Amino acid sequence: MVNMKNLYLYHIIYESMTACLKQFICLLILLSPHIAIANEVLPPKKVNWPFEGAFGTVDRKAAQRGFQVYKEVCAACHGLYNLYYRNLKDLGFSDAEIKEIAKSYTIQDGPNDLGEMFERAALPSDHFSRPYPNEQAARAANNGAYPPDLSLIIKARSNGANYLYSLLTGYTNPPDHFKLMTGLHYNPYFPGSQLAMPAPLTDGQVSYIDGTEASVEQMAMDVTNFLQWAAEPEMENRKSLGLKVILFLVVFTIFFVISKNRIWQNVK
Ligand code: HEC
Repeated sequence: MVNMKNLYLYHIIYESMTACLKQFICLLILLSPHIAIANEVLPPKKVNWPFEGAFGTVDRKAAQRGFQVYKEVCAACHGLYNLYYRNLKDLGFSDAEIKEIAKSYTIQDGPNDLGEMFERAALPSDHFSRPYPNEQAARAANNGAYPPDLSLIIKARSNGANYLYSLLTGYTNPPDHFKLMTGLHYNPYFPGSQLAMPAPLTDGQVSYIDGTEASVEQMAMDVTNFLQWAAEPEMENRKSLGLKVILFLVVFTIFFVISKNRIWQNVK
């Protein structure tokens, strides 16, 4: 026999649970535009880079200008520790120029004979100098955020070159509905659309040695070329070795087919 009292109880529980579920779904539908906007990330802009593709090479003029942008703007907050000053030779700087560049930085060395650390001018054989002695100092100077080392940043982000270019050129005012947290800056290309780095580039910020006009787009393009080279200085060697290997395999295959046909030609 069915217990009417239990049946009634189950009915009430079922009704209240579906009502709750309906309310929750309504709330999600109401909030969804805000949730979507909060997490909106624009896909990076598409740029045709000279280093792309099997035959792509480093645009050395652009990378040299990019080094100037890094040195005069980004190096205030970001390290590039994987590079040595002597690596700049690959970009077309002469030994004397590299010596001069290195000399303008002071680095800590030691210990000396008394066991003390000391400071000296950097040499071409030194790593690029770091803007902060450690992560804590970097965070303390940047509102708690850590400006990452840029040595491998192009490799560390998906679609790295296009992403970096878009990030540097993507700062705008936030839309009305956007809740910008204090100390952060709006940029729709950064996941979450806000980051601790203020827009680092403004038109004319750098006076290019070669006279190129320093628009934000130009500087972003140049510094991306430079950081792509920094992340993969061996790229050109890698590509030319790959092409040689493929050429060798093609020639080898032709000889292989000819000799196979000769060896087996009398066998019916
Ligand atoms: C005033 C200091 C400062 C300067 C100058 C600066 N940055 Fe930053 N940068 C930061 C901080 C702080 C962060 C961390 C942001 C965060 O995580 O919210 C950052 C983050 C980044 C990131 C990482 C973004 C990501 O996806 O995580 C890149 C790339 C970057 N900066 C490139 C540059 C380049 C290139 C320049 C020079 C044109 C530059 N920055 C100049 C402070 C700076």
